[in-house]
Amino acid sequence: MKFFVDTAEIDQIRELNDLGMVDGVTTNPSLIAKSGRDIFEVTAEICALVQGPVSAEVVSLGADDMIAEGRKLAAIAPNIAVKVPLTWDGLRACKVLSDEGRMVNVTLCFSANQAILAAKAGATFISPFIGRLDDINIDGLQLIADIRQIYDNYGYETQILAASIRTANHMSECAKIGADVATAPASVIKAMASHVLTDKGLAGFMADIAKAGIRIL
Ligand code: G3P
Repeated sequence: MKFFVDTAEIDQIRELNDLGMVDGVTTNPSLIAKSGRDIFEVTAEICALVQGPVSAEVVSLGADDMIAEGRKLAAIAPNIAVKVPLTWDGLRACKVLSDEGRMVNVTLCFSANQAILAAKAGATFISPFIGRLDDINIDGLQLIADIRQIYDNYGYETQILAASIRTANHMSECAKIGADVATAPASVIKAMASHVLTDKGLAGFMADIAKAGIRIL
């Protein structure tokens, strides 16, 4: 499973990228606003840092404006994936932009039906939001499993980009289901390294190291 980092914070991307843990980056208008940076400036910086796809989201609601914005965003760098919302206009924009050979990430997906339409419109990525479904007591991971099954039934090439990931558990569950990509905040990716038994075991080793005076350097 590929890891995308869901952030527009350069320092967080750099830290994980140096560890080889970044296969791409996703941004959205809320993350750009949070960074306090200009969308073109920060997106160009991310694209220069990371080799994989960098999602940059359009800000209009009409298809024609989304297409124009998508072309402008795509001109930032060859690794831009234009992000459009899963609306009828977003699907129209997806079809035009993907026919032009651009990567398109269709976002704000909350149902299997929406995911089928995105695949038919030529989306490179579909972004089902796990956490926001969980928030309203609908099983977000089940949606990932449903889309996996449907895409496999018909050989759709659109990649499932599990989004709105809130916990480390979401990451391993997505990997078990077979999501192609998971995008998560840096904090969630780092939390994957934590285990209470690792901490406990290490505390025991450190006590024995101190007691026996073991030194290597
Ligand atoms: O990029 C979209 C996404 O991952 C949003 O996550 O936590 O705001 O639902 P969240």
